[in-house]
Amino acid sequence: MSGLGRLAAVDVAALQESWDRQQEGYMPDREERFGAMLDAVAATAGPGPVRLLDLAGGTGSITLRALRRFPAVEATVLDLDPALLAIAEATFAEPSHAEPSHAGPSDAEPGRTGRVAVVAADLSAAGWVDALPRREYDAVLTATALHWLPGERVSGLYGEIRQLLRPGGIFVNVDHIPDDGLPTLTKQLLAAEETVRNARYAAGAALSWARWWEHLATIEELAPLVARRHEIYPTGHAAEFTPSLAWHVDALRAAGYSEAGVLWRGGPDAAVAGVR
Ligand SMILES: C[S@@+](CC[C@H](N)C(=O)[O-])C[C@H]1O[C@@H](n2cnc3c(N)ncnc32)[C@H](O)[C@@H]1O
Repeated sequence: MSGLGRLAAVDVAALQESWDRQQEGYMPDREERFGAMLDAVAATAGPGPVRLLDLAGGTGSITLRALRRFPAVEATVLDLDPALLAIAEATFAEPSHAEPSHAGPSDAEPGRTGRVAVVAADLSAAGWVDALPRREYDAVLTATALHWLPGERVSGLYGEIRQLLRPGGIFVNVDHIPDDGLPTLTKQLLAAEETVRNARYAAGAALSWARWWEHLATIEELAPLVARRHEIYPTGHAAEFTPSLAWHVDALRAAGYSEAGVLWRGGPDAAVAGVR
């Protein structure tokens, strides 16, 4: 059943909103990160629709923002989590996103077009590319996700992503990427963030990761998908790999990107970018 069919009675926009609040609990500057990524896409985009791969995209947060920002977008949201994918499917099954060359939502500017494919695939093996509806993208963007994979897999993935980019296309990974010159300060920043986060939870301003999933499991249509999700990720996170900035830049260079460096930094997190 399509995501729209399965979640027809669910307030999907409210779930998108609560996902954003939950993620902002960990990353108060999350919108700034997405803005930096999309600035890079805008600077490198050609005249046609922006062909975007939202990698480990969850509910499709990056794609939603790209649809608001660019006049024409052809996006693929890829993830492994059945519950998040169902929310993404229901979100983008709206006619404004599902149909090629369809005008945007009724309150959007006329002439906007958006087409979004939502696909399930596991990035922990090279075969994930077979799930993609196309083999050439202007940009591959990923947020707060690749630290779930082991290091040797991330290096391989960087090469596989490069193969999907047109010449001049960009890959951006924003994640927990500390500056190796600041080990003590990084720990202090993380501790300070945790204090603020716990105060927000105590005040009821946002749900924690665990509470958000508990909430999702109370929604009848999503409960079986949440159960499946917990089978896929029995420990919550598959792995916690957070090497330094230098590691990422070296891995991008080794994967053959013509340029590799830092696009954005905020405390212990950063966006690394590679240009094909
Ligand atoms: C913290 S969420 C971030 C989602 C989205 N990028 C965002 O910023 O809202 C991390 C995502 O990585 C996905 N993920 C982790 N391991 C994966 C894998 N092996 N294959 C595909 N997706 C994976 C998870 O399912 C989850 O949706």
